[in-house]
Amino acid sequence: MKKTIQDLKVLRNKKLTSDFFELELKAAEPLPELYPGQFVQVLIDNVRNVFLRRPFSIHDVNYQQNTFSLLIKLAGPGTRQLSYTEEGDFLNIIYPLGKPFTLDVQGDILLVGGGCGIAPLLFLARYLYDNKNIAPDILIGGKSADNLPDIDKYKAFGRVFLTTEDGSLGMCGLVSDHTLLQKECQKYSMLYACGPEPMLKIIAGIAKEKLIECEVSLENLMACGIGACLCCVVDTVDGNVCTCTEGPVFNVKRLKFS
Ligand SMILES: Cc1cc2nc3c(=O)[nH]c(=O)nc-3n(C[C@H](O)[C@H](O)[C@H](O)COP(=O)(O)OP(=O)(O)OC[C@H]3O[C@@H](n4cnc5c(N)ncnc54)[C@H](O)[C@@H]3O)c2cc1C
Ligand code: FES
Repeated sequence: MKKTIQDLKVLRNKKLTSDFFELELKAAEPLPELYPGQFVQVLIDNVRNVFLRRPFSIHDVNYQQNTFSLLIKLAGPGTRQLSYTEEGDFLNIIYPLGKPFTLDVQGDILLVGGGCGIAPLLFLARYLYDNKNIAPDILIGGKSADNLPDIDKYKAFGRVFLTTEDGSLGMCGLVSDHTLLQKECQKYSMLYACGPEPMLKIIAGIAKEKLIECEVSLENLMACGIGACLCCVVDTVDGNVCTCTEGPVFNVKRLKFS
């Protein structure tokens, strides 16, 4: 898939919670075809010690408006600088990067997201709803209600189930403790998950034990994002591969991490 490097105009920077914000970006040229699970590399200017581009999943796409959005959780200096971005600023972006989720699916589908791992799930839910006539179940977890940004948007495409570690919204506990995964997951023909590695390992274990197809999107540290620096390798049944070019989405049967 051809990658492009473009200066994209920031149409909106919306603060969603104390640590999440959403950037809506507009391209001057028609958007390339974008698929759920793919990511972009954003250049962050004028910040000490932030030399490398930062990777973010494509959160949502609007081809009519020629825009797409990023859902970003504050983590360090790069994301903090991006949170100061103003309407009318331009961001230099390389995209689309990485391999998307498998999109030729049918039956009941479960999407699971934790932390900033919920970012690619909105685009995935929209894609399944619009193109496959599938309204997936969407299970989202965070530390507290404040870590669950813009949940209503997901409700447009499927049933939404929530967990919080402090019990402030939805079921109290970790997303991987939810009944949908622990007791009912055999009804699903595919699980898609994105979030912290411990969460992905538990979900991969459940999928393998119950013989359910499962794809996870890894958030390994990245530098170049194009397969040149080898800093993002992950151990698979085919040996070490770059997460940025062979992933970030992997079928759990291919990964050696569970
Ligand atoms: C393919 C991919 C897609 C991603 N999509 C999103 C997204 O949609 N929204 C979002 O908010 N974040 C996403 N991330 C994570 C995001 O790239 C990092 O949070 C960001 O690069 C941190 O930059 P920083 O300069 O703010 O913090 P840094 O100073 O670089 O890091 C701050 C802290 O976060 C840790 N950290 C940095 N990068 C990662 C990472 N990739 N995974 C786990 N911990 C990390 C560091 O070890 C450090 O402890 C994604 C990462 C990858 C690889
Ligand atoms: S980030 Fe450089 S090879 Fe993957």
